[in-house]
Amino acid sequence: MPLQALLWEFRFPQFVERCRQRYGDTFIVNLPVSGKVVSICDPDLIRTVFADHGDRMHAGEANHVLEPALGSHSVLLLDGTEHMRQRRLMLPSFRGDRMQRYSTLMTDITAHEVDRWPLHRAFPLRPSMQAITLQVILRAVFGLREGAVLTQLRDRISRLLELGQASRLSLIPQLHRDFGPIRTWSRWLELRGVVDEALYGEIRRRRAAPDLAERDDVLSLLLLARDEQGEAMTDVELRDQLMTLLLAGHETTATSLAWFFDLVLHEPAVEQRLHRDLAEGSTRYLEATIKETMRLRPVVPFIARRLTEPVQIGSYRIPAGMVLVPSIYLTHHRADIYPEPEQLRPERFLDGRTDTLSWLPFGGGIRRCLGASFASYEMRVVVPEILRRVRLRSASPKREAIRKRSVTLTPARDTRVIADERLT
Ligand code: HEM
Repeated sequence: MPLQALLWEFRFPQFVERCRQRYGDTFIVNLPVSGKVVSICDPDLIRTVFADHGDRMHAGEANHVLEPALGSHSVLLLDGTEHMRQRRLMLPSFRGDRMQRYSTLMTDITAHEVDRWPLHRAFPLRPSMQAITLQVILRAVFGLREGAVLTQLRDRISRLLELGQASRLSLIPQLHRDFGPIRTWSRWLELRGVVDEALYGEIRRRRAAPDLAERDDVLSLLLLARDEQGEAMTDVELRDQLMTLLLAGHETTATSLAWFFDLVLHEPAVEQRLHRDLAEGSTRYLEATIKETMRLRPVVPFIARRLTEPVQIGSYRIPAGMVLVPSIYLTHHRADIYPEPEQLRPERFLDGRTDTLSWLPFGGGIRRCLGASFASYEMRVVVPEILRRVRLRSASPKREAIRKRSVTLTPARDTRVIADERLT
């Protein structure tokens, strides 16, 4: 692997910061799978990307390495009219005003998980956040009720994710085959088959459910959704969107929660004000703190668009075929927009506003994260519930280092914390 690719993979923040210092806001990195990618972090240039309607810039094509897991109908992998069709079918299920209905579910799942935490000894928070967000997706999105089907699907999915993660399978197409006796790829395909079987089983059962029209989970809504021609989604399309929502939705939110606690537990003034505001019944500071932690530690550090024709980006003419990479990480660390960018300062967002071209943890334009309202709402429910139930402190003297895990940036030690006392 060329040096640049190794640095991108294993020293991401340091590497891109150094590139920016040396070459400016726009620079090229040579990567093995994508080829030459052009990193940008100037809001004016990012505007060009978010204004594109999918004719000149293809996000789906740039994400194609995810196809074995997500399936070829996944909204993340499609471009053009097919992408817009799937996206329109899915959008109503994720509208912000629908989210309150998941509040009790999210609170109960959090309470159940927190009550299992050990007292007085260090443990990693991120896996626990992941248990919460996986359960939330299975209940709120898939609409599974507690019972054997949920337990079985959760176990199968966890095994599939673990194997993919451990072997970095998902992002390296060269690993999509067996190497003699090392049959990781075959094992992964087998596990995927078992997960698919469970997903198709659930889709079939739900189609036939007598209470389908009264249910408020996302799968039931997707089953009832119709496109402009009056067509419903096929089973394969539904399977691919479920897998996409699962993979795009639960680790990202869990990692964001883990970063939230890593940052806040190292900033006593922020932590105290958060407790005070919540005790007074206000969520303004909580919301600002969530936005600020997502700025300082964006879980998805960049997005990607493959150009279908040459595009003028500032003073550069980028040829067709190259990948344009708006850098969320670098944009969020611009000192001209966020003075002292390494400082955690929720006050930056206290007026409730965010600029779509300089605060972009969920990407933007016609590809903006479909689950942005869902994830933000989930964080607004999970964080106060945790703070209400236990007194937490960090087990590390300093903020955790940043580690790149496939397409996300995670706390290197998974946010090690100690629960000192139960408060309920
Ligand atoms: C903190 C949590 C999350 C973060 C940081 C995040 C971030 C992102 C980003 C950066 C994109 C790409 C946007 C672009 O290319 O411009 C994206 C796309 C997407 N996300 Fe999220 N996401 C999160 C949670 C979720 C959740 C909870 C769901 C669903 C349950 C979800 C579903 C999706 C889908 C379906 C897309 C593809 C949209 C499209 O291509 O049209 N995400 N997300």
